Amino acid sequence: MIEDETTTSSSSPTEPPDGRVTVDVHLGPGELDQALRHDVSTGLTGNPKELPPKWFYDEQGSALFDKITRLSEYYQTEAERSILGDRATELIELVQADTIVELGSGTSDKTRTVLDEATSTGHLTRFVPFDVSEEFLRDAAHMLATRYPRLNVHGVVGDFDRHLHHIPAGGRRLIMLLGGTIGNYPPVERRRFLSEIVAGMQPGDHFLVGVDLVKDPARIELAYNDPSGVTEAFNKNVLGVINRNLGADFDLDTFSHIAHFDPEHEWIEILLQSDHDQRVTIEELDLVVDFAAGERMRTEISAKFRRERLDAELADVGLESVAWWPDANNDFAVSVAVRPPA
Ligand code: SAH
Ligand code: TRP
Repeated sequence: MIEDETTTSSSSPTEPPDGRVTVDVHLGPGELDQALRHDVSTGLTGNPKELPPKWFYDEQGSALFDKITRLSEYYQTEAERSILGDRATELIELVQADTIVELGSGTSDKTRTVLDEATSTGHLTRFVPFDVSEEFLRDAAHMLATRYPRLNVHGVVGDFDRHLHHIPAGGRRLIMLLGGTIGNYPPVERRRFLSEIVAGMQPGDHFLVGVDLVKDPARIELAYNDPSGVTEAFNKNVLGVINRNLGADFDLDTFSHIAHFDPEHEWIEILLQSDHDQRVTIEELDLVVDFAAGERMRTEISAKFRRERLDAELADVGLESVAWWPDANNDFAVSVAVRPPA
């Protein structure tokens, strides 16, 4: 895989004058396009069909996700925010970080709770947001540099699956993965993802991860089936991404959003179901795809955790759990682990 060819460092006109913001782009338009072509042609010619979740997050998709985080049914965001608020002092004391890396940073909204503490009582000098969604990352980077006048913000636009090694080196780190994003990986891929995160950590560095907990399936299902239809629009946006970027003719109104809890795997499975027999043409791939009435295509899973399972998975990749912080309702938890000294 050729990676560095599309790498550019750039600054934008809104950048604060002292140049504390840099954004490295490892996913230029060309590479994004190539990766999308690959994933769509593989995913739609397989049986069953599926699409990888990273394609939800173009500018429209990221804006829809931001709306999801404000839905009352989607309890996860407020639960995680309250945990980070309650534990910020303890966390910063525990990790002693001068660099915070946030994987899948989005708007970095909840992260501000941690950054407030780390820049006031701690000795944080650098924040590294990493995300596949360039526009949102740029906006967040500039907003944070303005809010924290002594912080260097070094954004990285990349894909977890290929670009983690481009995260700048050095410093005592805290690596954060919020929003239950870890649960969007199935177990085998999750282990690989965690191993790669650990490979970039030095002994004494910490990893913080937010996980949604196993609970009443009805509440979990409601969080992914909000009556206002924002989640439905978010799920269908992946078809819009294919229409806009690859000249496809998906009719979004002929697919239904489905999200159901699978009690055996303890994960939510998110699917798109074709309402009737239909044929879709993806012009730029010279591909014609047939969907049968009722045919389902998986777009995401979102695994729900128990403490023992998460601790075991962290131990499996060489991390030692040092904190487990559930919210008052036991809906969501934040776990902190350390890479032990060699
Ligand atoms: N941390 C935020 C956003 C969570 S949504 C919160 O807690 O609310 C998941 C985020 O991960 C999105 O911002 C999305 O753009 C990003 N993302 C998803 N798949 C990715 C991938 N393969 N590589 C890099 N970022 C990815
Ligand atoms: N990380 C989020 C989660 O698993 C992503 C998400 C929220 C999502 N709502 C969704 C993904 C709906 C697909 C569809 O909760």
